[in-house]
Amino acid sequence: MKKTKKLYQSLIFALLFVITQSCNQANVVQIGYMLPNLKSDRYVKEKQYFTDKVKELGGEALVVSAEYDDKLQIEQANELIKQGVKVLVVNSVNLTTAAAIVRNAHNKNVEVIAYDRIIFSPDLDYYLSFDNMNVGKLMAQYALKLKPEGKYYILGGDKADQNAVLVKNGQMEAIASQISTGKIKIVYNSYVEDWSGDNAKNEMNRYLDLSQDFPDVILSSYDGMSASVIEALHEHNLDGKVIVTGQDAELAACRNIVKGYQTITVYKPVKLLANTAAEIAIKIARGEKITSVNSKVTIDGKDIPAILLAPIAVDKDNLKTTVIADGLLKESEIFN
Ligand code: GAL
Repeated sequence: MKKTKKLYQSLIFALLFVITQSCNQANVVQIGYMLPNLKSDRYVKEKQYFTDKVKELGGEALVVSAEYDDKLQIEQANELIKQGVKVLVVNSVNLTTAAAIVRNAHNKNVEVIAYDRIIFSPDLDYYLSFDNMNVGKLMAQYALKLKPEGKYYILGGDKADQNAVLVKNGQMEAIASQISTGKIKIVYNSYVEDWSGDNAKNEMNRYLDLSQDFPDVILSSYDGMSASVIEALHEHNLDGKVIVTGQDAELAACRNIVKGYQTITVYKPVKLLANTAAEIAIKIARGEKITSVNSKVTIDGKDIPAILLAPIAVDKDNLKTTVIADGLLKESEIFN
């Protein structure tokens, strides 16, 4: 008799455990995290930072990557909305077509945070990024200190990404007065589709082959392009002789900085970006107030609350106190 009672008790406990577990499961807040690709070093890291932070805060991150395909990204958003996410954190492939993501999400009461890249929709809920104008300014100001006069070659990112335009605007603002006095001459100025290293290298090679001349400064907007530009310079025996900028503190770029082939990169503390995104997404999902707004962007006359973080210029002298100290890269990886 006693044995049967014990058995019943254990069965009831087991049943209660299963019920509580599935209730907890159902209460877990789901957040969609949408990346434009997983080719850039930064996105691979951010995916992990974001997933871990959301988990730590009691939620679950559903991560997708669109591999440069804006139509696919809209389908992925629809799928995440169907799966029941409360918030979409979107790093868009195309700032214009991604407005459809905001529309579709709002139809199902899902809020949208534009992550790192803006989405051109006046209905966007939040914009979280870095001060991208300043990214461009930091690059150009650094180059300007070393070369206040000379030939500048400008290689911007993908035009369908507003960050590319902002970075270039920042660069141009920093060198405007030197251009107007004729001290700086812009010898080339373009945008590179998909921020692609291959495209950047082709452009650089064509320029070097045809012009019979080489620039003093290459304002490259992204490390992935800078690494390829440096390959082209190498093929022309010019590596180390031209000032080359970049952005993202990618491993190859940091190695090139140490070797003297790249001059600076603009480092953006992406762990802070990913963690902040996770925190505000969970707050939005739980109906809590967002207190970290420090800026705004105006789209079609409507103000969107924004959180903009600060970028940092990194050269060989402060690699250790920035990129390495933050744990983005290990000293042994860079100086191997
Ligand atoms: C931009 C981003 C940069 C860089 C680039 C290429 O949107 O702000 O940090 O990663 O894309 O991936």
